[in-house]
Amino acid sequence: MTAPTGIPQRESWATRAGFILAAVGSAVGLGNMWRFSYIASEGGGAAFVLLYLVIVLIVGIPLMTAEFVVGRMSQESPARALKRLGGKAWAPLGWLFVFCGLGILSYYSVIAGWTMRYAVDAVRNAIPEDTAAYFAQVSSGGDAVIAHLIFMAITVYIVASGVKKGIERASLIMMPLLFLILIGLALWAATLPGGGAGYAYYLKPDLRRLLEPEILADAAGQAFFSLSLGMGALMTYASYLKSEENLGREAATVAFADTGVAFVAGLVVFPVIFSFGLTDQVSESTVGALFISLPKGFELLGRLGDYIDTAFFVMLFFAALTSAISLLEVVVAALVDVWNLPRRATAIGAGAGIALLGLPSAYDTDILGASDQLVGNFLLVVGGFFTALLVGYKLLTQADAELSKGLANQTLRRRWAMLIRYAVPVILLGVIASGLRPTWQALRTLFGV
Ligand code: TRP
Repeated sequence: MTAPTGIPQRESWATRAGFILAAVGSAVGLGNMWRFSYIASEGGGAAFVLLYLVIVLIVGIPLMTAEFVVGRMSQESPARALKRLGGKAWAPLGWLFVFCGLGILSYYSVIAGWTMRYAVDAVRNAIPEDTAAYFAQVSSGGDAVIAHLIFMAITVYIVASGVKKGIERASLIMMPLLFLILIGLALWAATLPGGGAGYAYYLKPDLRRLLEPEILADAAGQAFFSLSLGMGALMTYASYLKSEENLGREAATVAFADTGVAFVAGLVVFPVIFSFGLTDQVSESTVGALFISLPKGFELLGRLGDYIDTAFFVMLFFAALTSAISLLEVVVAALVDVWNLPRRATAIGAGAGIALLGLPSAYDTDILGASDQLVGNFLLVVGGFFTALLVGYKLLTQADAELSKGLANQTLRRRWAMLIRYAVPVILLGVIASGLRPTWQALRTLFGV
């Protein structure tokens, strides 16, 4: 279909389920599968999980609702929409989103590349016995670069295929498979002898730690990354919505699914680690928990382990891919909407640029870690803070009208507005302040000073 001007009509989702699964696909990713359970176990177990849930409820869901509302209201990419709706002063926020998309995907794709390599080798039954040496080989240098480039090419291919035929179709296939595999793995993990100690380590309620400020900052940073908040990814997805569903309910659904997956992933990882006596390796490195000790554990199972290995890493690969798609889409949608560029060529060009940008992370995991701290932790929270200010103070009347299309309950909408205006900015200011020091460190690592 073509609009009278000859400009092709903007795409939209074919179904409500397609939108939801794409949004859940964006949220559910590498962040859920290992970062959540690792940080939870470090941060007081059940105490961290409790704090995380509170943050998701009072910051995550309101902010996600705000992103959905602005997206559907604008029907265009944030890079254009924020300037049109908020005025010139808000244009930089849209470009900050694009910068975050580029920045996160550049290193996310490196980790996703490791995952892809593991999945392929698991299918071929070719993961060697010495998993630590294997991980060292796979995770940096030439092997990591090749996997990173292949992963970027797959991501580009899906985004270039468009919203309906690319993103929606990929999510409709991969997400249900991911849920099935994850539930199967959790049931299997529950049968492991000695797994109980793993549940205890993961969820031990150390309630004194609830009051530590770093745990609050960790919980908030993790919530932003895991829920894909703060850089307009879900805003971009919602800009392809035409229907008038209840956006508050959609946000709650996505947040619930994301948190559920994170929680269940922990129920897989920890019993395995404890049942096979791999705790030493976990305390040594974060990444190690997933990439070194799990395959080691699976190996001890012989034949059955080969299948479980495959299921696990294929699932992880799907999770990473649907998240990477959303990161690239923010960049592509911005370039397509602002300069009227063709989608396919834009996806290829942007993907190539990001692939280059990721090379340092593929060669050096310190650079990868520093990029994650700077963009994946700090800038997301900054983006979320300004999004709350824009929606809560400048666009509130319009946003409330847009939200009311699917949410008639005025009391709920008022509560949402209060959270966006007061609770969210205040909490995020605290989180930003506590993130200044590690971010400064990260900048020094990146620029070598
Ligand atoms: N949420 C994804 C994860 O947990 C990562 C991700 C995808 C993301 N899109 C995003 C993070 C946008 C922040 C913003 O792995």
